[in-house]
Amino acid sequence: MINSPLMTVMVDAVRKAARGLKRDFGEIENLQVSRKGPGNFVSAADRKAEEVLRDALVKARPGYGLIMEEGGSVEGQDKTHTWHVDPLDGTTNFLHGIPHFCLSVGLEREGTIVAGVIYDPIKDELFIAERGKGAYLNNRRIRVSARTDLADALVVYGSPYLGRGNHPRLLKEVATVMAVTGGIRRLGSAALDLAYVACGRADLYWERDLQTWDMAAGVILVREAGGFVTNADNGAEPLAARSVACGNEVLHRELIGLLRKANQ
Ligand code: IPD
Ligand code: CA
Ligand code: CA
Ligand code: CA
Repeated sequence: MINSPLMTVMVDAVRKAARGLKRDFGEIENLQVSRKGPGNFVSAADRKAEEVLRDALVKARPGYGLIMEEGGSVEGQDKTHTWHVDPLDGTTNFLHGIPHFCLSVGLEREGTIVAGVIYDPIKDELFIAERGKGAYLNNRRIRVSARTDLADALVVYGSPYLGRGNHPRLLKEVATVMAVTGGIRRLGSAALDLAYVACGRADLYWERDLQTWDMAAGVILVREAGGFVTNADNGAEPLAARSVACGNEVLHRELIGLLRKANQ
């Protein structure tokens, strides 16, 4: 449990926005949908959920800045705090009727992510973390897996929308990782990928061409769950580099080695 006023604000906002998302998931065929690019869609569900989140966060913390996937950035009077908001992570799954998506909200304070909430409304799974206070799934403390053998490791990864990233490079990375690990999955929500590493369901995760709202909440979840998080090239800052690699200390090191090898 994390009993802080900040966590209450974040959890209340996310649960409120999730109600609409869950309703809309039951009526996908009636949703207004527009196309951002090949295979990349945004629906009225994404926009409505973001409005609910924005209103709740602004009401509770009026001065904070916002970086939102659909609404862009809003500078706050308080230059030290910024919310990173993804109202629906896994839109492709959502619009195809695949029940694997979430809402994700992270709070950055002076360049450091200090709190994160990820909520999967279909499975009713709430992942929360606050700096120095641990990471939790539905109020139970979570930790990254203790597995150290790559051959037994389950790895999740993500691929960018068509035209948004370097697919040939990713294929080399996937082939290199697949050749030596226990199994590999593309689940379709970067935030849940991070949350699944945090709770030990997946042993490793990497992805490039992400945005800060995909990662902010998940990065602190993995760190507070005892995991190692860097960008995909082993640099300290995943958000600035827009890529991520994470797992426990031993497997993270192995993954970085594999990604280097794939890119030689
Ligand atoms: C996407 C998902 C996906 C990842 C993409 C993201 P969206 O976010 O997180 O897993 O591979 O790069 O853009 O568009 O569903 O919020
Ligand atoms: Ca996203
Ligand atoms: Ca989204
Ligand atoms: Ca999107």
